[in-house]
Amino acid sequence: MIAIVGGGAAGLSAAAALRELGYDGELRLLAAEPVPPYERPLLSKRFLVDAALDAPPPLRPPSALAELGIAPELGVEAVALEPAERLLRTARGEELRYDRLLLAPGAEPRRLELPGASLRGVHVLRELDDARALRANLRERHAVAIVGGGVIGLEVAASALALGADVTVVEAAPQVMGRVVPAGFAQLLAELHRARGVAIRTAVQPVAFEGADGRVRGVRLADGALVPAQTVVVGVGAVPRTALAARAGLAVDGGIVVDARFASSDERVFAAGDAARVFHTREERHVRFEQWQVAEDQGRHAAASMLGVGEPYGDVPWMWSDQGELHMQATGFGFDGAEIVRRGTLEERAGVAFLGVRDGQLVAACGVSVGAGVGRTIRAAQRLIEHRVAVDAEQLADPALELRRLARAHAS
Ligand code: APR
Repeated sequence: MIAIVGGGAAGLSAAAALRELGYDGELRLLAAEPVPPYERPLLSKRFLVDAALDAPPPLRPPSALAELGIAPELGVEAVALEPAERLLRTARGEELRYDRLLLAPGAEPRRLELPGASLRGVHVLRELDDARALRANLRERHAVAIVGGGVIGLEVAASALALGADVTVVEAAPQVMGRVVPAGFAQLLAELHRARGVAIRTAVQPVAFEGADGRVRGVRLADGALVPAQTVVVGVGAVPRTALAARAGLAVDGGIVVDARFASSDERVFAAGDAARVFHTREERHVRFEQWQVAEDQGRHAAASMLGVGEPYGDVPWMWSDQGELHMQATGFGFDGAEIVRRGTLEERAGVAFLGVRDGQLVAACGVSVGAGVGRTIRAAQRLIEHRVAVDAEQLADPALELRRLARAHAS
């Protein structure tokens, strides 16, 4: 029997891949959320804005799951693991004895332990229930403060703006989207949001949530200012869910530590997705990603490994973010030490891309466009990174050079 803990992108793609690779044995997919696996990325975007959308679309239609012989067990949480006994215990007291186990529990929103954190109107956003609660509040079209100018922060800012709210983003770092993009790009993105009406304050820490009658009325900042808000969204990063693995004695180090085939320190237990810190063959170190597409890909890799046919992992990560009409994408391993080339303008359909070149190779890229246009460039960049194509910065800056053509030439 193969057991999977987690009904998110990694868990479900692993289940599907197991079937697609020919595994027809018993498969138990435990999903802690009480709803069938759904498209989580929509929670900060269309789901908040579109009142007619009752629930986000399922990751795979129920009929497709049934055809694959996958029946997610909803609302079932795994609470204990004994690797030596190959035993997984659920909150309901059921004991599962597995041959192989995949841990794909994801991550949870980091909370800010500040005064007033439990006031009504202070939200985090990760699961469907969070999104429902936030959506109900946002309907009141009042002032919204968002703490954290990352993926969640900027997506929710655009959604709240579309609902007619006054929106202020408070970012502790000197720039928004700090995790994945260079400063010039962050500045451009912030300007685009500002031009649309979002107030963005960078390099300032929130120190308290202030309220009256149990309800939040603003965010107090370290410089003394109060950002008035009846709704506050805290989007300050995510923490991998490692407690189950750690209690079981598996190696955990800011993520469940797995090798390039997603096997943990116990050879029958695997991990993938936001919770896994995987050995990346290309980077030659352990890395943890928090990206939906990466989680889905890792699920498939891990499934293959559980069946003994896995390849070592060395994929180039890729992510997207829709922020109102703005679409951004990023790929690669970061811009550290890279020469940065800027291509294009926002007036063009293809938008603006920033490309990072180090030692004659592309190492990272990110871009933004109105509409999905920049996707082609960033996908081409991902392939150039994958194939380690030799490039020079001057050549890349030339708008006549088509990245897609260059990528195709080398992929074939
Ligand atoms: N006050 C203000 N901002 C803060 C604070 C703080 N105390 N602490 C951190 N931040 C900022 C960071 O500098 C960063 O810009 O919050 C931002 C967090 O951004 P992300 O790391 O992108 O995390 P988040 O937006 O919360 O998204 C969490 O959801 O959609 C997924 O891929 C996304 O995995 C990510 C997760």
